[in-house]
Amino acid sequence: MKAFVYGGPGKKALEDRPRPEIENPGDAIVKIVKTTICGTDLHILKGDVATCEPGRILGHEGVGVIETVGAGVTTFKAGDRVLISCISSCGKCEYCRRGMYSHCTTGGWILGNVIDGTQAEYVRIPHAETSLYPIPEGADEEAMVMLSDILPTGFECGVLNGKVSPGSTVAIVGSGPIGLAALLTAQLYSPADIIMIDLDDNRLEVARRFGATRTINSTDGKAAETVMTLTRGRGVDTAIEAVGVPATFQLCEQLVGPGGVIANIGVHGKPVELHLETLWSRNIAITTRLVDAVTTPMLLKTVQSGKIDPTRLVTHHFTLDQILDAYDTFGRATETKALKVIINA
Ligand SMILES: NC(=O)c1ccc[n+]([C@@H]2O[C@H](COP(=O)([O-])OP(=O)(O)OC[C@H]3O[C@@H](n4cnc5c(N)ncnc54)[C@H](O)[C@@H]3O)[C@@H](O)[C@H]2O)c1
Ligand SMILES: [Zn+2]
Ligand SMILES: [Zn+2]
Repeated sequence: MKAFVYGGPGKKALEDRPRPEIENPGDAIVKIVKTTICGTDLHILKGDVATCEPGRILGHEGVGVIETVGAGVTTFKAGDRVLISCISSCGKCEYCRRGMYSHCTTGGWILGNVIDGTQAEYVRIPHAETSLYPIPEGADEEAMVMLSDILPTGFECGVLNGKVSPGSTVAIVGSGPIGLAALLTAQLYSPADIIMIDLDDNRLEVARRFGATRTINSTDGKAAETVMTLTRGRGVDTAIEAVGVPATFQLCEQLVGPGGVIANIGVHGKPVELHLETLWSRNIAITTRLVDAVTTPMLLKTVQSGKIDPTRLVTHHFTLDQILDAYDTFGRATETKALKVIINA
């Protein structure tokens, strides 16, 4: 089968690989129909993710059709259309029982990281019964792909951890697919204001179409001042970090108002200065989270009912043969205006 393989920092190729086989009774083999590329895949290609070794097939998002199931799988059968969660969970270990699937002792974020992923014709999914979701009849498959990772990530790490509530003020730093997913799902809670901050005017324009009440291009370094003016000197109730660099976390430290929450989503590769000298007295909470994808069934219903339309995030389409072009387009998002690229396998 064809598969997109990480060959070490800066190296990538579309290769011929043997089809995956059932290894454990809880496994399923899924024939990929659609997959996509995540910002995290770009981190891997740069060599930022130490757990992902050269030779790995990348990808942790997608939808497909079950090809075969292991002897222990009773809730899925060959031919079922399924949504693949970016997080594999056994459903039985201590962390899974606490709803913290991201730390499952035999799962978590393993797909396209420590085991082969979804950017291929077939993928082996461990703990299939608790890591796959049936796709409802008539559902838009491209919308379903957005449920593998970005919608649960924006919602769980940003909106839920950030305690977005009716009438509150939210700032989201980073208007990439994850920041935009946080923007879409924050509106489930009717905050009064959502301020989106980015360096890219095109992405800010998208944010306005997606419901941001204000947008700020922070290239001039004055975003914190502007937010203080907009909030009459108070700062925001929720500051969501959706980039993953020190500058944007520090911006969140400046934006958050008394009693507020800084909800970090970004994957950080460098240390960040914590300004406790200004934060200690302001009743601030700082949260971090690796997406658990525990809200996937709930988000699926909001997508099915049309309350959230994540297909608006899809900007480009490619075939698996064209995946190198897809990476190039996604990697040059400022020029190509790419948000999510769909790859048809
Ligand atoms: N916590 C988790 O479980 C989890 C899951 C998935 C992704 N992530 C992480 O979330 C982050 C966002 O993902 P994405 O796919 O949207 O990434 P992305 O790179 O597509 O988007 C980041 C956005 O930040 C903007 N940006 C960069 N530097 C900036 C700055 N100094 N000031 C303001 N804006 C700036 C960019 O213009 C871009 O629009 C990444 O770090 C990704 O690895 C975390
Ligand atoms: Zn991802
Ligand atoms: Zn578990």
